[in-house]
Amino acid sequence: MNIIETKAAMQALIAEQKADGKIIGFVPTMGALHQGHLSLIEASNNACDLSICSIFVNPTQFNDKEDYDKYPRTITEDLALLEHANCDYVFMPDYKEMYPESDERTFDFGTLGDVMEGAHRPGHFNGVAQIVSKLFDAVPAHKAFFGQKDFQQYVIIKDLVRQLQYDIEIIACPIIREDSGLAMSSRNQRLSASEKQAAANISNILNWAKDNYPSFSVDELKAEVIKQFKSIKALELEYFEIVEDEALKTVKNWAFKGKIVACVAVFCGKVRLIDNIVFPLQ
Ligand code: PAJ
Repeated sequence: MNIIETKAAMQALIAEQKADGKIIGFVPTMGALHQGHLSLIEASNNACDLSICSIFVNPTQFNDKEDYDKYPRTITEDLALLEHANCDYVFMPDYKEMYPESDERTFDFGTLGDVMEGAHRPGHFNGVAQIVSKLFDAVPAHKAFFGQKDFQQYVIIKDLVRQLQYDIEIIACPIIREDSGLAMSSRNQRLSASEKQAAANISNILNWAKDNYPSFSVDELKAEVIKQFKSIKALELEYFEIVEDEALKTVKNWAFKGKIVACVAVFCGKVRLIDNIVFPLQ
């Protein structure tokens, strides 16, 4: 496994490999890697000849300075995990390499960027769009792999690719969970043992909603979910939204026959966690 630190070296490598007819897969991350990230490397290895993972904690997408400062950085462990997962190259630029000057671009994703994470983390998706476009310029792969865990981010990135006309296929991969059901996240490292236990209720409640939704109206189901979160002292629900697949439009009743996704953001102590679940078609 090789580490590459500059855009120029990365672009040269990709040009060479493309000329050789190789299919290239890309997994962008912010490090503090876990099985969720590694499942993306595996998906890339299965679909491509060569897998590239990037590690860069992008300051412009953090709307909370403490969250950025406390974001776990575990580079030695990350590199060992990537090596073990048969990743071929790691792109590890420093701040100056990605932001030689400040990025003043603003992106408009319409309602896709206004709801849920967009509503509660102002500027977050603009920062994500800035760095992902820079990463796609540096790593012009054939396919890029993203987790369903950050469902809205995946939808936004698909729209970014459409807007900027990148020739790159965006692939969503399933959420990887702890045995407790808690969605794996780099931020889980900041939870105490008791907080981790409490956080397992997030997926329990989502599963309950998935299994029982046809017995309630949308409003009743939301009220019930809010009540269940209120009963757990260590969790503070920020939002619970039920949306129409990649349009992210609020579901008003169960007449919608496409994929329905229920999404939550929850504070567990000072740590903000997100999760989602797809409701089975009726
Ligand atoms: P990060 O949070 O490190 O996540 C990198 C990728 O791993 C994302 O596509 C995310 O959805 C996926 N992922 C995280 N937890 C997962 C889980 N439990 N199961 C499956 N996939 C999971 O998302 C980012 O970084 C950044 O915003 C980035 C796109 C790299 C831009 O800075």
